[in-house]
Amino acid sequence: DAAEKGGYEHYMRKEIHEQPHAVRQALSGRIDEFAGTVDLDLSLSDEYCKSIDEIQIIACGTSYYAGLYAAELLEQYADIRISVHIASEYEFRANRDPWRTLVIAVTQSGETADTLRALRKADGAGARTLAVTNTVGSTMAREADDTVYIRSGPEIGVAATKTFASQVITLALLTVYLGRQRNVLSSSEASTILNEVSEVPGAIQQVLDAESVVHETAKEFADSDAYFFIGRRFGYPVALEGALKLKEISYEHAEGFASGELKHGPLALVTENTPVLAILTEGTSADETLHNVKEVESRGAPAIGVSSETDPNPVFDTVFEVPKVGLMEPVVANVYLQLFAYHVASQKDRSIDKPRNLAKSVTVE
Ligand code: G6P
Repeated sequence: DAAEKGGYEHYMRKEIHEQPHAVRQALSGRIDEFAGTVDLDLSLSDEYCKSIDEIQIIACGTSYYAGLYAAELLEQYADIRISVHIASEYEFRANRDPWRTLVIAVTQSGETADTLRALRKADGAGARTLAVTNTVGSTMAREADDTVYIRSGPEIGVAATKTFASQVITLALLTVYLGRQRNVLSSSEASTILNEVSEVPGAIQQVLDAESVVHETAKEFADSDAYFFIGRRFGYPVALEGALKLKEISYEHAEGFASGELKHGPLALVTENTPVLAILTEGTSADETLHNVKEVESRGAPAIGVSSETDPNPVFDTVFEVPKVGLMEPVVANVYLQLFAYHVASQKDRSIDKPRNLAKSVTVE
């Protein structure tokens, strides 16, 4: 067991540290940065790609947040109407046109019962389906019309970490592919995105190298009453994912909010003992979130910035510095949140790899 953990105390920390490699694997042999092209070995015809009117993403848990991230990318670069559905809430609405709807199941295991049920509903309604999964030969890989593997390698820790990064990166590649096929993304725009994507492994490594700062911060705040995560646009799914990670493995109360929603209710929960972690990178309307940070700060809450700003605002108690990689910065910022969750849970001596009541793959509805 110790050997399999490769010297790490927990699989989760090992898997957090495997992210640069996992992302490289997701990119390997699939992109041509100069030409601005992506090859995912899909059987979608050019004509079909152009005819897509809507993409519906179905997923659960962390995969759902990767889906929310992808929705922002797809809307911006592939010019497709997107809806993202919690799989257990999914119905293929009768008034939709199944022939022009692509349904994407995002699932690490390929076996989650809620997602499988949603996939079958979409298939039964006549929609084309695509599975984005880590698991070769899984049920959803077999049942979907097409499959793209995220190539993360096995993930043992119940709390998903490296697979989130691999899912987002793979979905970014799918975005570029569809944008190019639909003639809405130029080769130079595609090259820019692919360049940013290829810089992600190095950027994540820089975050991993700064782990001691996160460790210290986690020690400082391990006895808080609750933890709040805020972000806008690409920062919002990352705020949700950061909170999910912390609650899963530390059993502490943590919530992610769209920054602008704070004042519509959650602000009532904010005290001097509820740290607020704010995502302030490219693609997150950072200036606006900064206003919200000032709101919580004036109520005495400690503020932790996860920021790629070169001149971070003095309003923060601590800043976790995110390297600049354009619209991929929030997925890099997420690595700080994984480490924060890990170190808070570690302070509390929790069962990090196997949190109470949770399972890696939930095969009941
Ligand atoms: C379980 C796991 C989560 C995971 C979710 C979806 O609840 O504990 O970590 O995000 O299932 O799993 P999937 O395999 O479909 O991505």
